[in-house]
Amino acid sequence: MSENIERTLVLIKPDGVRRGLTGEILRRIEAKGYALAALTLRSADDELLAAHYAEHEGKPFYAPLVEFMKSGPVVAAVVEGHRVIEGFRSLAGATDPTGALPGTIRGDLGRDWGLKVQQNLVHGSDSPESAVREIGLWFPGS
Ligand code: PPS
Repeated sequence: MSENIERTLVLIKPDGVRRGLTGEILRRIEAKGYALAALTLRSADDELLAAHYAEHEGKPFYAPLVEFMKSGPVVAAVVEGHRVIEGFRSLAGATDPTGALPGTIRGDLGRDWGLKVQQNLVHGSDSPESAVREIGLWFPGS
């Protein structure tokens, strides 16, 4: 991997997989010019999610978020490219899909379903440190 090329962890959450949006979301990532370096479909368990969301433990949305993330399979991808951490978060749009701008994944494909947990289709690492930590959790040995 050449210098300055970043890697980020992208998750397509259970709502995205359930709604058949995996292809559309991966298409947007590739159309932007980023490369898929690893890709898997898997079910997340409590241990993995506790580690992944450790910084949010104790927040009101933590328990429903973990339950939601266990509600079906998740697509995990390592995505590569210059400034991909920031770039994927731009592609994803704001956390709340109702307010996310049109043109973004959450703005175009997401909405509020009136459920107690926010279903916002995707996750992307928020910093280089998070990316390394999260890729290690979802792709051990990579
Ligand atoms: S915070 O509190 O500012 O750190 O929150 P934020 O960075 O916006 O979000 C952190 C992760 O929690 C998810 N989140 C939620 N999930 C479900 N329901 C509610 N209400 C909710 N609020 C925040 C948010 O999507 C982030 O998860 P990831 O997997 O990183 O997208």
